[in-house]
Amino acid sequence: MDIRKIHIPVALERCLELLSPALDKAGAVLVDATLGMGGHAEAFLTRFENIHLIGIDRDTQALQIARERLTAFDQRCTLVHAVFDEIPRVLAENRLTSVAGFLFDLGVSSLQLDRSERGFAYSQDAPLDMRMDQTSGVTAADVIATYDVDALISIFRRYGDEKLAPRYARAIVAARSRAPIESSGELVDILQDATPAALKNAGHPAKRVFQALRVEVNDELSALHRAIPAALTATEVGGRVVVMSYQSLEDRIVKAEFAAATNDATPIGIPVPLASSAPTFRLLTRGAELASDEEKTRNSRSMPVRIRAVERVRDAA
Ligand SMILES: C[S@@+](CC[C@H](N)C(=O)[O-])C[C@H]1O[C@@H](n2cnc3c(N)ncnc32)[C@H](O)[C@@H]1O
Repeated sequence: MDIRKIHIPVALERCLELLSPALDKAGAVLVDATLGMGGHAEAFLTRFENIHLIGIDRDTQALQIARERLTAFDQRCTLVHAVFDEIPRVLAENRLTSVAGFLFDLGVSSLQLDRSERGFAYSQDAPLDMRMDQTSGVTAADVIATYDVDALISIFRRYGDEKLAPRYARAIVAARSRAPIESSGELVDILQDATPAALKNAGHPAKRVFQALRVEVNDELSALHRAIPAALTATEVGGRVVVMSYQSLEDRIVKAEFAAATNDATPIGIPVPLASSAPTFRLLTRGAELASDEEKTRNSRSMPVRIRAVERVRDAA
């Protein structure tokens, strides 16, 4: 398997460019919070010969692949099995209080999507797992077997924006009362049967439900809510944070955290901006940047990407 062919890192040149001013110095540390198969990591270690990279992933299979890919750099990388909201612990264990850069390339990797046994893909029949970290936590089958109708409706709506959420949730509960739903194929059949004929051609009926289950199983949004502030706190002056999101719920969290860090926090009613309330970060991207048309044609994974980046301009008061 040539991993360089199955996974092309998204917006690679833009990520290198955005982080370059922070990394172009001896001893700079870059945290790749979503190491995946190490595509971005390899490019950063190659381009910036003096950096040390801390690579985090919650998926042990991804870490194994990245470790092999990065053997030429093993003196300059530390790979850690963790959820990225554990950034404070990971840094403390490496005796670091602040670092020069963070890279987040959110979501699932091609590895997770392509390995049918992981259960992420609705197009392949497999056990309903969907855990990025297969060493712990509940599976999608557990969610489908145990959540009541209201809880299922809630996650399908919130994380999948699924208009047929009540219909799908009721169909699942009815089906599981007859026999346990254990495979992605069984779930797809239930969703397909529950889809009104008039909507059968409006995209794959399982797409949004599968996205919602994945977000729920991996507690993706809560982890991101905690991780972005943790990364900002640990970014040194001149350091930069780059985040690539692939769905609007993630991007909304990143946008809000970056807005809070880049806004003047002088309380309303105080007539002049207080120096102590001046922003600690500045935005490096105008709104969310998209992949170029050329990249979208070359790499379909880049189509939904939203890139946001900030730089720390001063220490917190
Ligand atoms: C899109 S892939 C990253 C690909 C990588 N940039 C590359 O070039 O190979 C996202 C990776 O982040 C990991 N991941 C997602 N959420 C995570 C979290 N909360 N904590 C740690 N790792 C996470 C996934 O397991 C997956 O391997």
